[in-house]
Amino acid sequence: PVLSGLLGLSNLEEQLRTRFGLSKVVIVPGDSDHSASTKRELGRAGASALLGQLREGDVVAVTGGSTLAQVASHLNAPVPHPSNLFVPARGGLGESLEYQASTIVSAMAKRTGAQYRMLHVPDHLSEEAYTSLMHEPGVKEVVGVIRGARIVIHGIGDAMTMARRRRVESDVVEELRQEGALAEAWGYYFDRAGSVVHKMPTAGIRLEDIMTTEVVIAVAGGRSKAEAIAAVLRFGHEDVLVTDEAAALEIAAMA
Ligand code: BG6
Repeated sequence: PVLSGLLGLSNLEEQLRTRFGLSKVVIVPGDSDHSASTKRELGRAGASALLGQLREGDVVAVTGGSTLAQVASHLNAPVPHPSNLFVPARGGLGESLEYQASTIVSAMAKRTGAQYRMLHVPDHLSEEAYTSLMHEPGVKEVVGVIRGARIVIHGIGDAMTMARRRRVESDVVEELRQEGALAEAWGYYFDRAGSVVHKMPTAGIRLEDIMTTEVVIAVAGGRSKAEAIAAVLRFGHEDVLVTDEAAALEIAAMA
């Protein structure tokens, strides 16, 4: 590592915080692309960032992914939080079960003695099926709760990695490439400037909800995600960033 010690890391935290107008940045040492223990530390730091923001009665919307799965496994509450509610941010997005938001949400609720709700909406829906499903009272109600969450905690993915993981059709992958998609978060794809270039049609949180959410926490690390993280930061609606040294150094070096 180029950086020596904690002083270097806290300088880097402050640098990223002011550059992207964030309220808090936490950087763990190492590169989670290559180190399972760094990825675990990222999860631990994400869990404490979340607990630091959590208040009585909060609704927390959560995305899927391996990083958020790590956050869930490090959440620990000394006393139960029965007034808190965890919900998935979006419907199914074609992830494997262990990385699905609903799996992570139930783990988070169990580990903190909180409540959780599910959103049982499959990923590949026709416009017609989607519209009629959104009229189902049960679905409509949960979606309303999700969109009103005070806290959103989410992962950030490299666009092409996420498209592959979600088995997006090859013509759509080609479109994404041509549109310059670099990052993915909440089912939306962003270009270098942080503009949305593509959206996956699933129910749940919309970009306009993210823009008005009180506390948006991103947890993402690894050098390979640096460009994706920077793109989502340029979108401009994050409050807290939890990342690792390798991603942070790369982002800091960007023009
Ligand atoms: C997905 C989230 O499940 O995980 C995305 O919906 C996120 O928003 C992605 O980009 C990140 O996954 P990972 O495994 O790299 O943490």
